[in-house]
Amino acid sequence: MAEASNPVTRKINLVRIAHVYYIHKHIEKARQFLEAFGFQEVSRNGLNTYYRGVGSEPFVYCAIEGPADKFGGAAFVVESVEDLEYASKTLPNATSVQKLKDEPGGGLRVTFEDPVDGYPFHLVWGQAPIDTRPTVREKIKFNFPDEKTRPGNQFQRFNKGPAPVHKLGHFGMCVTDFAKTYNFYISRFNFRPSDLVYDDYGRDVTTFLHLDRGLELVDHHCFFFFEGPVSHVHHSSYETYDFDTQLLGHDYLREKGYENCWGVGRHVMGSQIFDYWFDPSRFIVEHYVDGDLVNSSHKTNRSKAGPGNLHVWGPDLPLEFLQ
Ligand SMILES: [Fe+2]
Repeated sequence: MAEASNPVTRKINLVRIAHVYYIHKHIEKARQFLEAFGFQEVSRNGLNTYYRGVGSEPFVYCAIEGPADKFGGAAFVVESVEDLEYASKTLPNATSVQKLKDEPGGGLRVTFEDPVDGYPFHLVWGQAPIDTRPTVREKIKFNFPDEKTRPGNQFQRFNKGPAPVHKLGHFGMCVTDFAKTYNFYISRFNFRPSDLVYDDYGRDVTTFLHLDRGLELVDHHCFFFFEGPVSHVHHSSYETYDFDTQLLGHDYLREKGYENCWGVGRHVMGSQIFDYWFDPSRFIVEHYVDGDLVNSSHKTNRSKAGPGNLHVWGPDLPLEFLQ
C-alpha cells in the first residue's frame, strides 16, 4: 500500500462523522426505501442522489446508481484545512485535496484507502451547514409512576409515518486484521476506544471508537469494527427523535413490507435503543435513540465477547446480524 513519503508527525483531528456513500444496482428501490426510512432528498446529480436529515449537515447519505451493490465509504469532518492537506500527504493512497463542486454544501475532500481492507474513507472540510428543520414535535412529557410530567387534561397524540433521520451517528466495518486496523486508526486520528471486546484468548477483536475532543461530550461511538474473514460494511446508523418516533418508523417500514434485521432492543455498549433494517440491496441501516455521551474522562471499558454483551432487552440476536 503506497504511503506518501512525507513524515508522519501528528494525528489528524476529526470533528464529527458527516455522511456515507452507498452504491445501489437498483436505485429506484433504494430511493423508495430511503424515503420510508426517514431521509429527505436534497438533490440529484448524475448518478448520485443526496439525502439530508433534519440536522444541519448538507447531506448525510448519498445513494449512487452503479453496476453492483457496494459500500462507498464514510466521511468525517476534519478540524482544519491543514488537517486535510496533511492527510493528503500522509495517508495511504490518498487523493489530492479536491474541491466539491457538485455536492450539497460544497467544501473540500480527501479520500484515502483503508490500509488493511482497501475500502474508501473520506475526509471533508468547509461544507456549508444548512438550516435545521423543526423537530417532530415538542419534547415528550412522560408520566412515570412517581412523577407525572404531563399536565392534566393533555394527551399523547402521534402521527403515523417515517421516523425522520436527524443525523448519521456511526458506521461499522468487518475487518480482516483487527490489530492492524486498530493501530492505524488510533495512531493516525483522534479516535479513542470507548469499548474493547476480547475473545476467549484475550485478543481484542471488536472496538467502539469515539472522537477525542477533550472535555467536549461526544457520541460513545461514531466508528466501530470487528474482525471477520471477509471485509464488508456492517451497518450505518441514524439518530431519530425519541422512542415513539422510532417505533412509529418501525411500524411504517413493516407496513411497507420492508425486512427487519434486528430490533427493537437496547444495546449495552453505547446504550442506544436500536432498530436494524435491511434495505432492498441487503445493506443494514439502523435507527437509534438515547445513545451515551463520553469525553476524555471516560476510561476504556474492556469486556469479553459473549451473547449477553450486545443487548440487554429485545429479540434474540439473529444470525444474519453476525454474518
Ligand atoms: Fe449501531
